[in-house]
Amino acid sequence: MNKLTPLLLSCILVPWVLSATVKKFDWSFENTEEAAISHEEDSVLNNEEFLEAKRPETDVMSFPQSDIVPDVTPQPDSELPTCLLCVCLTGSVYCEEILIDVVPTLPKETAYLYARYNKIKRIKTKDFANFPTLKRIDLTGNLIEEIEEGAFSKLPLLEELSLAENKLTKLPVLPAKLTVFNANYNMLKSRGVKSNAFRKLTNLSYLYLSNNQLDSVPLHLPESLRILHMQNNNITSISDETFCKGNSTLYIREKMEEIRLDGNPVSLAKYPNSFICLKMLPFGSYF
Ligand SMILES: *[C@@H]1O[C@H](CO)[C@@H](O)[C@H](O)[C@H]1NC(C)=O
Ligand SMILES: *[C@@H]1O[C@H](CO)[C@@H](O)[C@H](O)[C@H]1NC(C)=O
Ligand SMILES: *[C@@H]1O[C@H](CO)[C@@H](O)[C@H](O)[C@H]1NC(C)=O
Repeated sequence: MNKLTPLLLSCILVPWVLSATVKKFDWSFENTEEAAISHEEDSVLNNEEFLEAKRPETDVMSFPQSDIVPDVTPQPDSELPTCLLCVCLTGSVYCEEILIDVVPTLPKETAYLYARYNKIKRIKTKDFANFPTLKRIDLTGNLIEEIEEGAFSKLPLLEELSLAENKLTKLPVLPAKLTVFNANYNMLKSRGVKSNAFRKLTNLSYLYLSNNQLDSVPLHLPESLRILHMQNNNITSISDETFCKGNSTLYIREKMEEIRLDGNPVSLAKYPNSFICLKMLPFGSYF
């Protein structure tokens, strides 16, 4: 940076910030109530939508981009303030389908980050290092191949994380408070999922790992788990310890409501003792 930079910035940035502010104001003026309502609904988590990671047909972010984003094509290494590039609404940051390739620098006290359908390839530890307030991160539909080991592990309030529709082959360390984790549609292999990956997540209720290349169900699934989706993987066998506790007929896995193992090579009929503690049989092939 040379001495000219501040001057240049004030010549270019200030008028542009002003025009962006005016645009944003127009938008919020017209849509405040609607946005507040959608946001409210969105905050009350719709797990199906969040987790199944299907591109929602109607969405708070489906406003025409021209209304929100200033007339500037985002640059990959942009140093533009995040809230000009993205939409920031009390605690939520929406950076969807704007083709960013890195996680933007978040405003302080961000609780919800939606950065779906971009081109982010890599998550670095520093991306979320100073945001202990994050409760939900949605990175569905990016190109993420690599996540630095501790990138999510130190987020004490993080409850919902979606990494669906990316290119992951292994999982990072997950934070203890997680209730919803979605990694559907990746390239996960069993050797990339540590045997105790989910053990300490004592509030995890929804675990979505469908459409990967896993050849076994992860061990040590927490008691809190209600839904497990592992359809369309490469699972060939199940052990008596996967869901139950060996041959103990006293143990019941109380909370489990749904297990999907369809679309795997395993024939579930070969492992009758694996399900004795469940209140229902898994979906899958019994031939
Ligand atoms: C799980 O949730 C309960 C109730 O909301 C909370 O008291 C507890 O601290 C949570 N556990 C973890 C590991 O965060
Ligand atoms: C599925 O597993 C079999 C044997 O366990 C292996 O030969 C095959 O390559 C696997 N397929 C994929 C897509 O990983
Ligand atoms: C249950 O398993 C344990 C060890 O795996 C074995 O010692 C015990 O005999 C088994 N009990 C029954 C009733 O099969």
